[in-house]
Amino acid sequence: MSGITNRAFRKICTMWGAEFSFTEMISAESVLRNFKVVEKMLPKDEINVAVQLFGNDPFKMAQAAQIVEPYAKWIDINAACPVKKVIKKGSGGALLRDLQRLERIIQSVKTAVKVPVTVKVRVGFEENELDAILNTCIKAGADAVEVHGRTVVQQYSGEAYWDLKLSKYTLPTAISGDIYEPEDVREAIERSGAQAVLIARGALRKPWIFAQIVQGRTPSVPEIEQMFLKHLKMQVEEEGERSVYKMRQFVAGYTHGIKGAREFRERFTKANTESQAREMIEEFFNTFLMNGCNNEVVEWIEDSQSRRCCT
Ligand SMILES: Cc1cc2nc3c(=O)[nH]c(=O)nc-3n(C[C@H](O)[C@H](O)[C@H](O)COP(=O)(O)O)c2cc1C
Repeated sequence: MSGITNRAFRKICTMWGAEFSFTEMISAESVLRNFKVVEKMLPKDEINVAVQLFGNDPFKMAQAAQIVEPYAKWIDINAACPVKKVIKKGSGGALLRDLQRLERIIQSVKTAVKVPVTVKVRVGFEENELDAILNTCIKAGADAVEVHGRTVVQQYSGEAYWDLKLSKYTLPTAISGDIYEPEDVREAIERSGAQAVLIARGALRKPWIFAQIVQGRTPSVPEIEQMFLKHLKMQVEEEGERSVYKMRQFVAGYTHGIKGAREFRERFTKANTESQAREMIEEFFNTFLMNGCNNEVVEWIEDSQSRRCCT
């Protein structure tokens, strides 16, 4: 996820049970032009991370793929992004309107690297044309596809479409879109016929969703506090003290449903250093825990968990 799945957040998701993750989308041009800038987006001391590239030129995509290959468990080609400036350049979701180009991109990336090559698609540009899209991916030799169950034009509106009959295709598939709870995983798999699910905004809402899915447990409030602090520490280690502001996008998730969360979110925007941020987090959670976390118990804390954190 662009702007979100940096190293620190990927590591947090992995710690909580995510089996694999993706880098933010990285433009092939930027890899070729200024590798130093994109290098920090690439996996380091991580396993099972795919590097996602976007672009419109088969040759440049292949060159970029070769450069990032040593960092990547596999290469993922973005043919799904609906952002205007990406579409305008014929990249991302625009490739779904130009399947010949998509085919050439997949083929040339496949030829350039030894690691597997997957493609992130949507069900179509304006309408559902998944058949043509997936047949293109298969023909070009893609090793797997991930399908976001919306069209490009839809962007993020409406409900994601899961009834996709993906099992009829001869390559492995993953389904993406509106998977927020462990129950959604089973339903999305059953309805779509995919072998795997991808969780995007659900991980932003609660990064421990992977523990709920993989280990079948919801962490206690003190564990969530520790996770928040660890995330902050890793963010600063990776990108420096000035990047503390990047933690703001995770605050709503870590404090969701806890009394005073809204005020805390506002206060947190003023945290400029790691120690300021850490003190604020500790104070917020201490207040919550010292108050016995009774009426403020949050929706995602199951009964057993709330009992544990109150004793
Ligand atoms: C802020 C944001 C950034 C995203 N960036 C990317 C990206 O870089 N590459 C990609 O393939 N999808 C990206 N997506 C799309 C998600 O991967 C996912 O397919 C989509 O949000 C639907 O899943 P969800 O309902 O679980 O969020 C992004 C989505 C959001 C909300």
